[in-house]
Amino acid sequence: MSKLFNVAVAGATGAVGNQMISSLEERNFPVNNIKFLASSRSAGKKLRFKGDRIVVEEMTENSFKGVDIALFSAGGETSKHFAPFAARSGCVVIDNSSAWRMDPEAPLIVPEVNPHAIAQYTNKGIIANPNCSTIQMVVALSPIHRKVGIKRIVVSTYQAVSGTGKKAIDELFDQTRAMINFVDHKTEVYPHRIAFNCLPHIDTFLDNGYTKEEVKMVNETRKILEDDTIGVTATTVRVPVFFGHSESVNVETRGHITPDEVKQLLKNAPGVKVVDDPSRNLYPLAIDAAGKDDTFVGRIRADESIENGINMWVVADNIRKGAATNAVQIAEILARDYL
Ligand code: A2P
Repeated sequence: MSKLFNVAVAGATGAVGNQMISSLEERNFPVNNIKFLASSRSAGKKLRFKGDRIVVEEMTENSFKGVDIALFSAGGETSKHFAPFAARSGCVVIDNSSAWRMDPEAPLIVPEVNPHAIAQYTNKGIIANPNCSTIQMVVALSPIHRKVGIKRIVVSTYQAVSGTGKKAIDELFDQTRAMINFVDHKTEVYPHRIAFNCLPHIDTFLDNGYTKEEVKMVNETRKILEDDTIGVTATTVRVPVFFGHSESVNVETRGHITPDEVKQLLKNAPGVKVVDDPSRNLYPLAIDAAGKDDTFVGRIRADESIENGINMWVVADNIRKGAATNAVQIAEILARDYL
């Protein structure tokens, strides 16, 4: 790639925004000029990029003039307001919030799964980055879906606090330290203590008893796999882990496939690493996935309660593959094939 691009990171001071900056640098994205945008609270702060210290600017409706690609991770409401201005000024937005994911005109992309759908970015200039839990699940399941078809997915998640943002990382740290020292702790980000606890509650509750996070997993999985007939049911749980989401995934397939065949398929699948040797206590762990861009799959075994069923354990770094890396991978395809 010889062409260079003007890039903006909107939400540069946040947990995902920070990783977007690192991923652009690590993956040597062809940057001409880079802009860091955040709220007025952060204007004037400096952040590093390739040895330079770049001043963070307050994001305004005029921030995107001359920008080719804007990576957004500044929350849904911010994105709803600013992404259309960015798109109108001619840049392609890759948005990490849930604001545009189910918009029929916005493609929802996981590069290992549906890169062809990026072409639809011309509809409104916005490409949506899926929910972190959905990304890692479809990376692991799409090879199986392509091979034998998936009828139904039952997933339970064990999600790290970094998915909520910087304040939640601090809250788990502060609560853990307070409890160990037998002093009072504050509970501000979550409705209950997260340290030494599990909360079956991610995002807000809906009338049907599910949380928005659970419904995101259902709808986004179908959109990315381009198959509305797949049944998906999810229970999403916040656990006291800093980085790395884990998932227990049960799939009922249309055709028969053995656990060994699944292992073989996934060994050759892009972005997947199979870690599955129970005899040596080897299976995917959040602490091993943290800091890496792959999706790790293990505990692959037959669901013996049904004719065509597979169970597995899927782990990935939610800030990297679940957010920033996926967004930068989309930008790489845009830069290589479309811009
Ligand atoms: P700021 O740091 O100035 O508040 P996280 O999800 O880790 O909390 O990060 C959220 C990111 O979105 C931060 O960079 C935050 O900037 C940014 N942000 C939040 N609200 C706005 C807004 N109204 N305009 C621009 N950036 C925003």
